[in-house]
Parts: sequence; structure tokens; C-alpha cells
Amino acid sequence: MSAIEIRNVKKRYKDLQALKGVSFTVEQGEFFGLLGPNGAGKTTLISILAGLARADEGSIAVHGHNVVDDFRLARRALGVVPQELVFDPFFTVRETLRLQSGYFGLRNNDDWIDEVMANLDLTEKADANMRALSGGMKRRVLVAQALVHRPPVIVLDEPTAGVDVELRQTLWKFISRLNREGHTIVLTTHYLEEAESLCDRIAMLRRGEVVALERTSTLLQRFAGTQLFIRFAQGVLPAELRSLEVDPGAVNGRQHLLRLSSYDDVERILAQCRAAGCTFEEIEVRKADLEDVFLQVMNGPEMVEGLA
Ligand SMILES: Nc1ncnc2c1ncn2[C@@H]1O[C@H](COP(=O)(O)OP(=O)(O)OP(=O)(O)O)[C@@H](O)[C@H]1O
Ligand SMILES: [Mg+2]
Repeated sequence: MSAIEIRNVKKRYKDLQALKGVSFTVEQGEFFGLLGPNGAGKTTLISILAGLARADEGSIAVHGHNVVDDFRLARRALGVVPQELVFDPFFTVRETLRLQSGYFGLRNNDDWIDEVMANLDLTEKADANMRALSGGMKRRVLVAQALVHRPPVIVLDEPTAGVDVELRQTLWKFISRLNREGHTIVLTTHYLEEAESLCDRIAMLRRGEVVALERTSTLLQRFAGTQLFIRFAQGVLPAELRSLEVDPGAVNGRQHLLRLSSYDDVERILAQCRAAGCTFEEIEVRKADLEDVFLQVMNGPEMVEGLA
């Protein structure tokens, strides 16, 4: 049984097709990244998953429970940290977490609540009113709220937006621990270096469609690998090297980014440039990161077709 099974989900808002038939599966125990630019449809998909919005077509199941027909069981298997800060200003942190436990029928949950608060550095604020908390503190409470019923599947919609470095590290330590203990994690973030270091597998959404779905390491190898950056003082890139350009369409004047299949290519490329009369102003060998992959996938329509 998969942790999350998303099948052909479509969602339209008036004349905007926010999701155009999204399908993918997240296996139990995975740390899964859902990436995409603003407006790609990530939050829409998560809202449908959490039962807060209805799909026009398609279905989602959490641990085998359909999120519409089998809402209560699906919801129980799921903890969602929403992107928007929503909370009741009149309760304290501890009351908020007790109330949330109550929704799931958990009465004596204080030990776990204390543990969650301790792991998110919230203990000092346990008796503070929600309205008296800073933005970053409120975000910690949202994370805690999603975890009170120890859901096997945890979905975090940009949990680190507007959050300081220290909390990010605290949060990732705790979430990674939960993942090691068997919880499935789905994360959306615009901090691609976070996704690169945390996620086993990544789906990229663009305008409501999945345009990449791969293991993180495969994505990095397939689309990126190692690159040679050169800026010429004089001369132009020899024609036979143009096919190596990472982004051939870019208007880049004297500078070029070339794909390397191995470090051994560097010598040959530089020699070819020199033979063509080029001189160099700058040379750099770079290891491509997830940001390079992201830009290539988002800018390259040809990648869409290649997806199974
Ligand atoms: N309730 C709504 N009514 C109308 N349009 C909506 C609604 N919710 C989302 N949209 C639109 O659907 C598209 C997808 O939005 P969504 O919030 O899912 O994007 P996202 O990938 O989460 O973006 P971000 O990275 O900015 O959070 C956007 O164009 C958005 O304007
Ligand atoms: Mg969003």
C-alpha cells in the first residue's frame, strides 16, 4: 500500500485550469519533494489531499483511504502544515495543541505534546497566547499541530518560508528523525538546496502538470551533471561545441555554460577554443545543483514529452 496515490487529478478555478491531470505515487517512508514556481498548483493539490478542496476529476488516496469517500480515515493518516498561517488567537500554544488532539479523539496526549513542543523549541512559549507569537513561532505551532496525532504521512507546504536559520535546522532535524522512524514526508519549498539535501525523490509541477518525477540523484545527473563556464576575452565559441551548451537558446554574448560528461573533457574543449583563436577572461568548472535542474526543467518544453 502506498502512502499517497494521486490519480489524474484535475481542478479548475473559473477559467484557470490549476491542475491538468496530475498523477504520482509516494511510497511509505519516502521523503518526497513537490517543487514548482509560484502558481504551479502545489497548494491546490495539497488542499485536495487534505480534503479542504474538491477535485473536478481524479482521486487521491492516503494509506489506501480515498480522501473524499473515506475522509475520516484518510485525514487521520495525514498531518498537514498549511502554507497560510491560520489559528485561533484566543488560545495558548498548549491549548491549541490539546484542542487539535481532541479533534482526533486523543485525550491523554500531553506527553507527546510536550515532546513535540520541546523538539520545535516551543516549550518556553507553551502558555503564551497565539496572538502574542512572532510569525516564525506561529509557524512552529502549525508544524506541531500537524503532528499531534502522530500521522504516518506528514505534508509540509513551505514550512520554512519566513523562518530563521536556527528554526530551519531544528525543524529539519526533527522531521528527518520522524522520517527515519518511518513517517512519510512530503515537502514543498522554494529553497531548492533544502529539497536537494532532504528529498529522496522529487516531482516538479509546472502550470498544473507534472514535468519531472525522479529520484533526486537521477534528476541531478540527467539534467545537470558537471558544467564548464567560460567567458571569452576574444573570439566566439567554435561551432562544433555549440551542442554542449546547457541553454542553447540563451543570448549570452561572450559567456557560455557547457555540459561536461567528465572532467577529462575540459582540456579538449579549451584546446578547441584556443585553436579557434579564442582567449579567456574566466574559466570555472561547476557542479550543477537542483537549481540548475529546476531552471532547465521549467524552461525546456522538450522535457515534458520525455516523461513517462
Ligand atoms: N481559491 C482559488 N480561487 C481561484 N484561483 C485559485 C484559488 N486557489 C488557487 N488558485 C489559482 O490556482 C493556481 C495554483 O495556485 P496554488 O496556490 O496551488 O500554487 P502554488 O504552486 O502553491 O504556488 P506558491 O508557490 O505561490 O504557493 C494559481 O494560479 C492560483 O492563483
Ligand atoms: Mg502554495
